[in-house]
Amino acid sequence: MPPRPVEPTGPLPSAGDDPTTAPELASGRLPDAATGDPRPGRAVVVGGSSAIGRTVAVELAGLGYEIEVWGRDVGRLAAAVTACRAAGVAARSCSVQLEQPDSVRAALARSGIGVPAPPGTLPLRVVVWAAGVFDWAPADEGDPDIWSRLLEVNLVAAARVTTAVLPALAAAAPSALVYLGSTAAHLSFPNNAAYVASKHGLAGLAEAVFLDVRDRGVKVSLVSPGLVAAGAGLRSPAGRQRPETLLDPADVAAAVRFVVTYPARGCPTLVRVEPQRSP
Ligand SMILES: NC(=O)c1ccc[n+]([C@@H]2O[C@H](COP(=O)([O-])OP(=O)(O)OC[C@H]3O[C@@H](n4cnc5c(N)ncnc54)[C@H](OP(=O)(O)O)[C@@H]3O)[C@@H](O)[C@H]2O)c1
Repeated sequence: MPPRPVEPTGPLPSAGDDPTTAPELASGRLPDAATGDPRPGRAVVVGGSSAIGRTVAVELAGLGYEIEVWGRDVGRLAAAVTACRAAGVAARSCSVQLEQPDSVRAALARSGIGVPAPPGTLPLRVVVWAAGVFDWAPADEGDPDIWSRLLEVNLVAAARVTTAVLPALAAAAPSALVYLGSTAAHLSFPNNAAYVASKHGLAGLAEAVFLDVRDRGVKVSLVSPGLVAAGAGLRSPAGRQRPETLLDPADVAAAVRFVVTYPARGCPTLVRVEPQRSP
């Protein structure tokens, strides 16, 4: 059964003064900086259907953000929505095929991401890009169509969504845009050229976008985990043989929380997290 959409629970006045800190309430939640409303705004997690994305969404729900998870898999989206609601916030899902520009445009329209925040919606304060696809193939054997789709999802769609959400994030600043990179955003690995290229591209995107919006109060960060015991990480040789040495999705969520709750005076533009033990 498709997930039941939850209507946002009401408008908030737009943020006024730009605070330099984001104090957490005793409950662990962040109040809205301008109004004190216990709901600090709205967060969209693209790829929120993955275990990593869902865990990030639940972490943000714990801070009080209303959550929207984007993805394709109806069952996994529903599980993410349920987990966020269990944290006591409104949550809903949005289906999207990221390799199709029309589908991305339709998802953005359905989400009502606009300036000012449309009536009945909270200001958009966090966007996390957690979508991604993986491909193992030597460069001389790679399927160009698979590479093209991979680059479309991992990088081109990220850029497409970035331009669409930045006006709303800037209007609601202080706010944050967090991309999930990878160790492959910084190092190269054999048999992994398309993924490495896409994540290096995402690193450049994050750095350049930060320069464009830093003075408007939008944090832009690349969170780059090593192998995680989820998704593609579990299909890697280390994931199959020594899964206990990998990072947990909660470790990635903690890094995203670090960025989101970091005092607005600064921006952790790059957070790298490696497993403590060699995987
Ligand atoms: N696992 C690791 O070890 C690891 C390490 C470093 C970084 N990362 C990054 O973490 C993120 C999640 O990766 P994962 O390994 O956990 O993979 P995963 O479970 O396969 O999750 C991939 C996510 O991307 C979404 N997605 C993929 N193609 C899509 C498309 N065409 N349209 C819409 N959504 C699409 C999936 O949605 P559906 O499930 O709904 O299809 C899912 O939410 C990725 O950005 C990955 O690069 C992972």
